[in-house]
Amino acid sequence: MVNILVTGGAGFIGSHVVDILIERGHNVKVLDDLSGGFIENVNQKAEFIKGSILDKALVEQTVQGIDIIYHLAAYAAEGLSHNVRKFNYTNNLIGSINLINAAIKNKIKRFVFTSSIAVYGTSHGNPPFKEEDLKLPEDPYGIAKYAVELDLESAYKKFGLEFTILRPYNVYGERQFIGDPYRNVFGIFMNRIMQSKKPKIFGDGNQKRAFTYIGDVAPAIVNAGFSEEAKNEIINIGGGKVYTVNEIAEEILLSMSSNLTKEYMPPRYEVKHAWCDNSKATKMLGYEDKTSLKEGVSKMALWAKSKGHMNPIIWEGYELDSNLPEFWQNLNKEYPESGFRIRIGD
Ligand SMILES: NC(=O)c1ccc[n+]([C@@H]2O[C@H](COP(=O)([O-])OP(=O)(O)OC[C@H]3O[C@@H](n4cnc5c(N)ncnc54)[C@H](O)[C@@H]3O)[C@@H](O)[C@H]2O)c1
Repeated sequence: MVNILVTGGAGFIGSHVVDILIERGHNVKVLDDLSGGFIENVNQKAEFIKGSILDKALVEQTVQGIDIIYHLAAYAAEGLSHNVRKFNYTNNLIGSINLINAAIKNKIKRFVFTSSIAVYGTSHGNPPFKEEDLKLPEDPYGIAKYAVELDLESAYKKFGLEFTILRPYNVYGERQFIGDPYRNVFGIFMNRIMQSKKPKIFGDGNQKRAFTYIGDVAPAIVNAGFSEEAKNEIINIGGGKVYTVNEIAEEILLSMSSNLTKEYMPPRYEVKHAWCDNSKATKMLGYEDKTSLKEGVSKMALWAKSKGHMNPIIWEGYELDSNLPEFWQNLNKEYPESGFRIRIGD
């Protein structure tokens, strides 16, 4: 039995990671500020601490006695990160550094960090991206993730903190926060369909992505904390089959037995095609694409329908209002009853 801290363990991916760790007999603490996660996601056998990775004293206290850290806490809204730059860097970069400092002081055995496919950007050519490809992130979210990756490599060289860096992509499934209108295309579409609103697509919908079912990826993330082979490695982790956003929308409409049609919006600034070579994850972490898109979407749809639609959580203001996609500018009008996220960091 190992003592483990999972940051972001009330969130989508983190809560599944916690469940598996507990199933495997470990002692698990969860640190989460519930800004994007839910207490009902947290396994009752875990010790839950409500708080932020920005609270340095709390982080230092929480890390005491821990052997392995899985660091998943982040605000993962890639497209919106351009307009909430300071919030993004504070939460996702400075928060991570608090944790890395505490990990070094407490001689943590392994620091598992969920980075992102966003570190690649598009500049080096066509996908599938390989781990050693050029990293040129194009948005503040990807830049923060890449900075943490570099910091972990440097912390290993200077202090011996062992790490495994994972680069997941487009994960979907049960417990995804479907009320966030800025991220998670599966959740956004399902939440809209349950309110009889058409799924809205940026651009022509021919953007290509590989998608990853949570039940396939969570066990492989857990393995990253224990695998000798994965020590100090950087590993892409996620689905191998590629779909267009149009195909995804069709599959979701079908799984929700909806007669709605797709609606198109002007394209936004985003990577056109993005997926990864996942052979290293298959070899080192036992990652397997077991779940077909049809099966995964229908499991998620069943769960979403059992929960019902969620009022979107909309930012009260942005740090920068310019170049914000029109859809996001008009969210308040479209969802007058929505909850508001308080902007921080000014
Ligand atoms: N979902 C994906 O497709 C995907 C892809 C690549 C990388 N990732 C990364 O995986 C991790 C988990 O993503 P997710 O999809 O489960 O998102 P999520 O929002 O469901 O989970 C993140 C959790 O972190 C918590 N959190 C955020 N800021 C915090 C803070 N300052 N202190 C404490 N807790 C905080 C939130 O409350 C939430 O529970 C993130 O680091 C994300 O960047 C996700």
